[in-house]
Amino acid sequence: MLTLSIIKADTGGFVGHSAVHPDMIDLARRALDGARTSELLLDGQVATCGDDLSLIMTHTYGADAQLIHEFAWDVFTRTTALAKDLGLYGAGQDLLSDAFSGNLRGMGPGYAELDFEERPSEPVICFLADKTEPGAWNLALYKMFADPFNTAGLVIDSKMHDGFVFEVYDLFEEKRIFFDCPGDLYDLLMYIGAPARYVIHSVRSKALGEVAAATSTQRLSLIAGKYVGKDDPVMMVRCQSGLPAVGEVLEPFAFPYAVAGCMRGSHHAPLMPVSVGTAHPSRFDGPPRVVALGFQITHGRLIGYRDLFDDPAFDDARRQANAAMDYLRRHGPFEPHRLPLEDLEYTTMPGIEAKLADHWQPIAGSLEPVHQEHREEPARAGTASGTPG
Ligand code: 13P
Ligand code: 13P
Ligand code: MG
Ligand code: MG
Ligand code: MG
Repeated sequence: MLTLSIIKADTGGFVGHSAVHPDMIDLARRALDGARTSELLLDGQVATCGDDLSLIMTHTYGADAQLIHEFAWDVFTRTTALAKDLGLYGAGQDLLSDAFSGNLRGMGPGYAELDFEERPSEPVICFLADKTEPGAWNLALYKMFADPFNTAGLVIDSKMHDGFVFEVYDLFEEKRIFFDCPGDLYDLLMYIGAPARYVIHSVRSKALGEVAAATSTQRLSLIAGKYVGKDDPVMMVRCQSGLPAVGEVLEPFAFPYAVAGCMRGSHHAPLMPVSVGTAHPSRFDGPPRVVALGFQITHGRLIGYRDLFDDPAFDDARRQANAAMDYLRRHGPFEPHRLPLEDLEYTTMPGIEAKLADHWQPIAGSLEPVHQEHREEPARAGTASGTPG
């Protein structure tokens, strides 16, 4: 059994929130080289998207392994120290705890992990995003594994014809549910169409009995109880031979759909598929970016990566993303560019509400405020809305 782990964190931005400093990348590379030599890892590569640093690692310790998580935590504390030394922005931004204990759950760094038996040929795509939230993968995963207009294999490949099971997390109530598709397709869409709360954690092939995709599903604001940057999620997808082909896995990103997370984590903007060399969001700290790193995994070795969005066939998606960005930017501080109020409750809104609480006056002759009674408050893990942001 082989484990593929992507563990990532923003430990400091260069400049602002736009990129990772080259010295931090070097430090992380040397650490991975050491971990290969000491045989902690079978293989490892460093990759970045915007200001987020990812460690892509193969090993035999399984998901959630203390040794692997502790190694990543140690690398991130060292890149944080370097970022502080260089005076980089938000040094240690995603490290929400002072000390490591057991595994990375609830500590800030994001991770996606997959345990599997390596096939004779094992093509895998690692997706890294910046300036968005974990639910940003929902639309793409739905198209890859449930939409025959995206994935021809759902119709043509007998091993895909039975469909896939989607594991969905409710991040506010910390519970999960499985949707068996295509049968449960409409129920699935009811939930994952609300990506701030419901997030696809994994997808399993019914015919093969194998997990095909896994995502990072942490919400930093729900851990910290306040705004501490966006989650900037990662995802891994295994391809071919009863799973979607590489081109079917990339195809959803030919449409730059809108995601939450741009500028102060508070705006919707299009998700732009880009090459690794252009994954440096600058305009309005955006638009949000996604890169696709293709690997063949062979005896645990990461053969690659190939920079899969470095393809003129995605030029039109980038052009459309720029047009959509212009359109949304002209809304300034208005919805739907700005996130709805309930999604801003971990930022400035609670403070403004507290300040103005005594200034609200009843409207003369008005009826009872029925609206409030009919509105069911979403139950949230973490803090109540009165907490200052
Ligand atoms: P090849 O015939 O090039 O292997 O292509 C098969 C395939 O999977 C295309 O999606
Ligand atoms: P990061 O989460 O990438 O640091 O983004 C912070 C932000 O909101 C920049 O505007
Ligand atoms: Mg940052
Ligand atoms: Mg980031
Ligand atoms: Mg972030």
